[in-house]
Amino acid sequence: MSRKILVLPGDGIGPEIVGQAVRVIETVNEKYGLDLELSHGLLGGCATDELGSPYPDETSRQAAAVDAILLGAVGGPKWDDGPRELRPERGLLAIRKELQLFANFRPAMLYPQLAGASTLKPEVVAGLDILIVRELTGGIYFGEPRGIRENADGDREGYNTYIYSEPEVRRIAHVAFQAAQKRGKKLCSVDKSNVLEATVLWKEVVNQVAAEYPDVELSHMYVDNAAMQLVRAPKQFDVIVTGNMFGDILSDCASMLTGSIGMLPSASLNADNKGLYEPVHGSAPDIAGQGAANPLATILSAAMMFRYSFGLGEIAAAIESAVAAVLDDGLRTADIVTEGETPVSTQQVGDAVLDKLSS
Ligand code: IPM
Ligand code: MG
Repeated sequence: MSRKILVLPGDGIGPEIVGQAVRVIETVNEKYGLDLELSHGLLGGCATDELGSPYPDETSRQAAAVDAILLGAVGGPKWDDGPRELRPERGLLAIRKELQLFANFRPAMLYPQLAGASTLKPEVVAGLDILIVRELTGGIYFGEPRGIRENADGDREGYNTYIYSEPEVRRIAHVAFQAAQKRGKKLCSVDKSNVLEATVLWKEVVNQVAAEYPDVELSHMYVDNAAMQLVRAPKQFDVIVTGNMFGDILSDCASMLTGSIGMLPSASLNADNKGLYEPVHGSAPDIAGQGAANPLATILSAAMMFRYSFGLGEIAAAIESAVAAVLDDGLRTADIVTEGETPVSTQQVGDAVLDKLSS
C-alpha cells in the first residue's frame, strides 16, 4: 500500500532538522520496502516570502492529498513585525485547524543517557515518561470574537475568547482515556475550573466520559498547581489532558524535565489518524544555518508518524532504538552536551542514526 508524506521544512533550523528526518524515512522505506511517496511544500515565513501567505492554497491542496505531514518549525524575527495575518505561526494554526488535527500528543520521556542534561535533580526526573494530550483546534487559540479594538474610553483593548463545546471536550477526552489505557492507566485533566466557566464544563464532560473507562484512574488539577507539580514531582503523572493554551505552556515546561526541548517529538491527529508530525521546539533562528541543531526531536516525530498514522509500531520502535543507541555512543548536539563533552553537528547525528538503522 502506497503511503504519501508531505514534507514541510519551514523556517530557521527547520530545513536542517527535517533533512535528517527525511534521510531516516528514506532509509526505512528502502529497508522495509514500504512504498512511501514523499513530496515537499511550503509553510510559514518561507511560504509568505515565496507565495504571499504562510499557508498558501497550494500547500493546502498538497496537505489534503497525503496521509501524513512532517513539519520542521516555523517563524523567525524576519516576519515578527509584519502584518498579523501573515505571521508564520498563522500558517501552523491554519493547517492544524483545516485538517482538524485536534489531538496533539506530546510525550516527555527522559532518556537515561541524558539524566545529567536536565536542570532538575536526577532523582526527580530519572525514569520520567509522561504524555501530554493537548487539545489543538479549539479553546482560546481559535475562539471568536478576538482582536484589538478601541473601548468606550478611547483606550485600545485586546480580547480573546476561551470557548469549548461539549463535543470538542468529549472527543479529546476519549483520545486521552484511550492513550492512558495503553500506558499507566492514569489520567490527570488540567483546568482552571476555580475561575473559568469554560473549564467548569470541560471538567464536567471529562467526568462523564470517564464512566466509559473504569480501568483508568482519573484526577483533576488546576493548571497553576499542575505547573508546580510538573517541576516538583513530575513522575506522579502518566497522561495529562488539557486545553490548547494550557497544553502549550505545560508541554514546554515538561520538555525541560527531559534536559532538552531538542529531544521532544509530537503528533497532531485528526479523527482518522491522519497526522502532522513536528518537533515541540521552535525554529531557533539564532542557530539556523550553522548545522548545530538537534535533529532528534524531528527524527522521533517521524517515528511517531509510523506508529500513529501508518500503524507500523515496529518501524517506530526501530527508529527509537537507533536514537537511543546514538545517545549511548555519546553523540550529542550542543543543546544536550554536559561539561567536558564536545558537541557534534546535525549531520553527524543524522549519519549516526542511519548507521544504527542499517546495522
Ligand atoms: C507549539 C507552538 C505553537 C503553539 C506556536 C508556534 C503557534 O508554540 O506548537 O507549541 O502555540 O501552538
Ligand atoms: Mg508551544
